[in-house]
Amino acid sequence: MGSTTPPNFPFARPQAWDPPAEYKKLRTNQPVSRVTLWDGSTPWLVVKHKDVISVLTDDRLSKQRTRPGFPEMSAGGKEAAKNKPTFVDMDPPDHMRQRSMVEPLFTTEAVDKLRPHIQSTVDHLLDAMIDGGGERPVDLVGKFALPVPSYIIYGILGVPFEDLAFLTQQNAIRSNGSATATEASTASSTLLDYIGNLVNERSKTPKNDLISKLVTEQVLPRHIVHSDAVQIAFLMLVAGNATMVNMINLGVVTLFQNPEQLAKLKKDPSLVAIFVSELCRYHTGSAMATRRVAKVDIELDGHTIKAGEGIIAATQSASRDEDVFSEPETFDILRFASKEEGGRGEDWYKAMGYGWGEHRCVAEPLARAELEIVFATIFQKMPNLRLAIPFDEIKWTPPKKDVGITELPVLF
Ligand code: HEM
Repeated sequence: MGSTTPPNFPFARPQAWDPPAEYKKLRTNQPVSRVTLWDGSTPWLVVKHKDVISVLTDDRLSKQRTRPGFPEMSAGGKEAAKNKPTFVDMDPPDHMRQRSMVEPLFTTEAVDKLRPHIQSTVDHLLDAMIDGGGERPVDLVGKFALPVPSYIIYGILGVPFEDLAFLTQQNAIRSNGSATATEASTASSTLLDYIGNLVNERSKTPKNDLISKLVTEQVLPRHIVHSDAVQIAFLMLVAGNATMVNMINLGVVTLFQNPEQLAKLKKDPSLVAIFVSELCRYHTGSAMATRRVAKVDIELDGHTIKAGEGIIAATQSASRDEDVFSEPETFDILRFASKEEGGRGEDWYKAMGYGWGEHRCVAEPLARAELEIVFATIFQKMPNLRLAIPFDEIKWTPPKKDVGITELPVLF
């Protein structure tokens, strides 16, 4: 390596939907390397599946963003790191203590009970689109992908229905990347104030929802204080939102790019669960979240990572690791079907779309259920769903950001 400056990171996606080409080269030539971030810092970058697992399960590495050397991806991120942390940014034992307060909501059994609520939300939004007519272009992002996850999580939190549209709009402003920093932070404060008021109301009159549960089971017995409950509820509101929106849009477009696979899914909606697994492997979202800083010196693949040095575990690269997935660049709806069923018989759990280890997405069963219901329903209700613009005109997220789509005019 010598004294050459490590390459700038994040790398850019060469074409809108493909991961950066650098990942493949590094997997072959330099699986553990250094990169240069916006602030001149040079954390480690880990790109092989086995090493990403090793980083994300090593308790000698910390997620606390207040530790010197923690890799921050922007000036805004560095500022935000000073705020009171949510459990995403905590280490054991605090992390599990808070995570376990919401975990019961997202078990497979709990999510199965939510499926009717998810189905009716999806049906309601699609029916409203259908009532408006499909002969003129409609933006699928605004009318569908954006409201689906918000409406569902608001239902779980116990936000009154009449406030949904306003809060969804605030959430979009804070995360869509086109608002100014001031607009985004005003929207965040608006949401935090709103949740704070709701926590107060539910403290007086508890109902059957997550906020009431946090108040009665955690705040009143003094396991956490009022502001912790607000933070946890806020985290539920914002954590998966942008990623969910992206995955819905990406799923639709990826199926348009692969019409024979779309035909398979339309014919047999029971393929939807393995389709969603492949979607979350192929388009590994939230790919900049998996960062750590070393608390002590560690060895990784023959390199010494010193205490105080940052590490970025490239989940997007791990999901394309040729040692784990055959023809990883191919989108194959049957990848995770068994060989007897004509699939590749690969293990869906190994795809890195939801991270790995103790911080693996707490809401994975919910996110999967939402995507399954969306994709088992949308092409049944709108069998003629198609792009209203040429493919080349689709608006993708900037090449150095998580893969996503910001506007998607469709006809149906
Ligand atoms: C398709 C949608 C989603 C994807 C791809 C996704 C992906 C991820 C990933 C990669 C992580 C790991 C981050 C890390 O290691 O720091 C994560 C964590 C997390 N996700 Fe999701 N997520 C999705 C949906 C959701 C939803 C809907 C919610 C909330 C309702 C949510 C809440 C969280 C929380 C709270 C964490 C932190 C877990 C922890 O630190 O223990 N996610 N997610």
